[in-house]
Amino acid sequence: MTRFWALTVGAATLTFALVGTPRTHAQDNKASPRERAGAVLFGQYCSTCHGVRLLKQDAAFDLAAATKEMPEERFIRGAKTARGTMPSFASQLKDAELADVYAYVKRGHTPDLDDVPMESNH
Ligand code: HEC
Repeated sequence: MTRFWALTVGAATLTFALVGTPRTHAQDNKASPRERAGAVLFGQYCSTCHGVRLLKQDAAFDLAAATKEMPEERFIRGAKTARGTMPSFASQLKDAELADVYAYVKRGHTPDLDDVPMESNH
């Protein structure tokens, strides 16, 4: 009898372990809500110069490449500082919004974000 219960508890534990394991891999490719919000803002304010979907061929400046080594505060400061043809976004976007844009640029564009409208310069 004791052995029966031990087996039952063992089987239940195993079943729980298998069923209860969080399936994180399926979500790994999906943008987080923050990254999606950042993509939307990027499409409204940044894609004309930095490239639709971060594609380099129509970009004034390869923001994705530059952002790889750029900490968030530097990105936000950079986006609020006019330089050359780069306008300052200090009055148009909040730091939290620029942080979302940073999250998107840092992550890079993936197909699940293809539905986000992006302004083109041509
Ligand atoms: C009118 C064109 C234009 C638009 C719109 C634009 N940028 Fe830029 N951006 C540039 C150019 C050109 C540079 C390179 C400036 C330089 O260093 O000469 C640049 C550089 C940057 C840099 C790097 C600054 C640094 O400190 O090195 C950041 C960060 C940046 N842009 C963020 C943004 C974000 C975020 C948006 C949208 C909210 C945006 N840009 C919209 C043209 C643009």
